[in-house]
Amino acid sequence: MVRNRTGTEAWWLPRAVVALRVRIFEKVNGDRVVTLPNATHGPEVFERVYAHPAANGRSEGAGLSDLFWYWLAPGPEVHQEHLEPGERYEDVAATTRRILAGNSADLTTAAARAVAGALDTLPGTRISLVRLRDLMMPAWAEFCYELVFQEPCPPRARDLITAHADDVITALKCTGLRHPRRRARLTTYLRDRVAAGHVPHRLPASLSMREQVHYLQGTFFNTAVVQLSEATAHVLLALAHHPRVQQRLAAAPEDDRYLTRVLDETMRLYPLFGIAHRITTGEIPLDETTVLPAGSVVCFSYPDYHATGYERPDVFDPDRWTRLTAKDVHHIPYGVAANRPCPAWRISPLVLRAAVREVLGRFRLDSTAAHTRSNPHRAPCLLIPRGLPAEPRRLNALRSFVRLRDGVEDVTRGVRQLVLGTVMVLHARRRRPAARYFAERRAGRCPVPHPGKENG
Ligand code: HEM
Repeated sequence: MVRNRTGTEAWWLPRAVVALRVRIFEKVNGDRVVTLPNATHGPEVFERVYAHPAANGRSEGAGLSDLFWYWLAPGPEVHQEHLEPGERYEDVAATTRRILAGNSADLTTAAARAVAGALDTLPGTRISLVRLRDLMMPAWAEFCYELVFQEPCPPRARDLITAHADDVITALKCTGLRHPRRRARLTTYLRDRVAAGHVPHRLPASLSMREQVHYLQGTFFNTAVVQLSEATAHVLLALAHHPRVQQRLAAAPEDDRYLTRVLDETMRLYPLFGIAHRITTGEIPLDETTVLPAGSVVCFSYPDYHATGYERPDVFDPDRWTRLTAKDVHHIPYGVAANRPCPAWRISPLVLRAAVREVLGRFRLDSTAAHTRSNPHRAPCLLIPRGLPAEPRRLNALRSFVRLRDGVEDVTRGVRQLVLGTVMVLHARRRRPAARYFAERRAGRCPVPHPGKENG
């Protein structure tokens, strides 16, 4: 059994930021919001409501959508995650499935190669202090480029994708503002490539060329890159905090079953989605006396659901998965099968395993930075090349530095998140990108979000 060992305890300020964020989400949506599971309605209600056919609205009718659309621009209206159910959604989802349908061996090789390229930038003769998310993002940018274009990724494209994905996730975590011009540079690049017919996949016929570009940008060069970078940062930081687990993996890198347990446990404790939301399109009974009316916003809290039904749920214990199977417990890292699960549920574990193996083959990991679900510090970590003679004094000095810097950054970052988060919430409320889009559609006009306005 392994204890959850974080270098520093989360301070009151970051916790206040998280609490404020939940309050803001609830306020933005008004009184029609319910978060599950809660004190009255437990995990069974969470499962039933999530899988209910009327829990299928994605964007229209929730104040929260303005915020997400603002963060995800350009092209949130054609992002698969935010499209309403219907023909367009089916067309887009089928395209994503086609692009993700590579064979396992090729995907594993491509992921290992991309991660090896990122690791080659580090010296092999001394300890490196890195932020794992930053280290991994260019690798996943290259990997996703190869998925889409089926050719090696040129450095220019890698840099444009990384700059875009980083800008989106930084704004989403409220650690920085949006930089629309940075995002627009990738849009221009992709537009030229799509126009020249360089994408070897059939793109959604129901979308205009401009929308096809936005679809690729949002789904593959934002969501895919961000999720894979965040997941890799989480699993590597967990290993840095749990040396015995790390040693066991490094000693038997081909042990797929143990690596899978480590990934399952990481995604249980640090699910990438804090909250997934739906807007109900019909009534859903919550219990014998309460009914959720149509038009309610339901927030599904992954961390709360993942914490129920386990012995010592706060403990990072990959071995618990020797006794459990995911389908019998509260474990939905890729969403629920009945309601728009992650289309990358097959390839993600595959390529994450390849990435972890590549890193552990070359480095030992150590970190004294805190490990939280949102990891706004981008996972600071020491990478110690294997075979490097032990330098305990230097290592201890570096560990103390990481702990101290993390504690200081935690406070200043917390203040920044509060200020920037408020600025962006107010800006999004003024712009109302989702509300305006749906109002125009209802009025029978063909809504085309104005790039200058929405991006600006
Ligand atoms: C470890 C990596 C990943 C995790 C843990 C993850 C997790 C999730 C979860 C939980 C959902 C469902 C959210 C909901 O119910 O609203 C989701 C949806 C989605 N994910 Fe992932 N994801 C990962 C990687 C990826 C990648 C590589 C892609 C690449 C295309 C991707 C694309 C999407 C899309 C498009 C959706 C929306 C599905 C729909 O509404 O039809 N994800 N993901």
